Amino acid sequence: MIERVIEGKALIRGRIEECCIGVEGGRIVSLKKILEGEERIRIRRGLILPAGVDLHVHFREPGFKHKEDFSTGSLSALYGGITCVADMPNTDPPTLDRLSLKEKILLAGKKSFVDFLIYVGITDRNLDRLDELSSIARIFKIYLGETTGNLCLGAENLERLKEMEGKKLLVFHAEDRSCLEERSFIARDLKGYARSRPKVCEALAIRKILESLGRSKHRLHISHISSLLGLRELEHREDNVTVGVTPHHLFFNVIDDYDKGTFLKVNPPIRGKIDQEGLMESLINGDIDILESDHAPHTMEEKLTDFESAPCGIPNVETMYPLLIYYFLKKGLPLDRLVRAIAEKPAEILGVRKGKIEEGMDADLAVFNLKEVRVIRDEDLHYKCGYSPFSGYKAIFPEKVFIRGEEGIDGEDCLIDKGFGRYLG
Ligand code: NCD
Ligand code: ZN
Ligand code: ZN
Repeated sequence: MIERVIEGKALIRGRIEECCIGVEGGRIVSLKKILEGEERIRIRRGLILPAGVDLHVHFREPGFKHKEDFSTGSLSALYGGITCVADMPNTDPPTLDRLSLKEKILLAGKKSFVDFLIYVGITDRNLDRLDELSSIARIFKIYLGETTGNLCLGAENLERLKEMEGKKLLVFHAEDRSCLEERSFIARDLKGYARSRPKVCEALAIRKILESLGRSKHRLHISHISSLLGLRELEHREDNVTVGVTPHHLFFNVIDDYDKGTFLKVNPPIRGKIDQEGLMESLINGDIDILESDHAPHTMEEKLTDFESAPCGIPNVETMYPLLIYYFLKKGLPLDRLVRAIAEKPAEILGVRKGKIEEGMDADLAVFNLKEVRVIRDEDLHYKCGYSPFSGYKAIFPEKVFIRGEEGIDGEDCLIDKGFGRYLG
């Protein structure tokens, strides 16, 4: 008999239906109307969706544990319905070689509540060791412009990445360094900040990426698109190129949200209303492939300094799925589009067996009671930084979250230990 059966209303192959999800060894082994199981979990209220996969988080360890650590970050992810994350290399030490990667995997393995992957950064500093880098990882982060951590690769070096062995996932922070250097000035508020890192630098970086690597064997992903000008560069992209957007670029603009000041200081910057609305439309119609949180927490104290010296980044991982479920429902948009963007496609990009309720996939599920709309409050979130710019926004948080068939979250309770998460490198 099947180990465990989770039964309820679920989104399967684009349709909502009553179903029994049979789980063995953490994987979905059967989907049937009726299934016998040694253990049965009946979901009476709510809709069972695939749990989310977030390919862009900064859990800040090692080096910046005062901002977040792998436990608090991954617990926040789990409470937000995300069961798999990929962590960025701008830590201290930065993840730029075999040793730093190994140490981060060990550390995260002890502390993570959710499954994880780790990016290795490619910068001007380690570019001469592409062979070694190719042999230790399959997912890489490339910052083309200066941002938290200063791990830049000059765009003139992009061509070199063709040399890398095998088929890699290359994820880009697309703002062109020399363009930023020419145009930037010291900004004193959000509107100034947007002008100091103009959209043309985003568009230019994307153009250079496509020119240098567009037809390479690698998979290319443009992170956190902020402008329609940038997105236009991607109109005729090949299948190996994807683009992601963050909740903050979808929900905020520099006019209406001007007063949030440093709490919305982020790279690439928050733009105007036309970009904000255009990006949401592009996510809905599929011109933007995926959602990614770019969860980048800094402490309250760091954010409360003057605009000029405040660090860039916004915490996001716990609120992303809940905010978007609420938004899609309110607007009467199809939930399967959201699920494709937040679970299925990011899993495909990372090459992990998650993101779909289908035989052979990990049984990673998030149960949302669609009637349970809640207002986001700082004190209900699990971030170390203790704040969210989305406080006051309406959202639907998952009531239960399963990871590899185990019940990880049940209401307010977490039922698994840290260290449950596995490296999916
Ligand atoms: C990120 C951070 O703080 O690590 N900051 C940000 O403004 N997005 C770095 C990044 O993703 O650019
Ligand atoms: Zn970035
Ligand atoms: Zn980031």
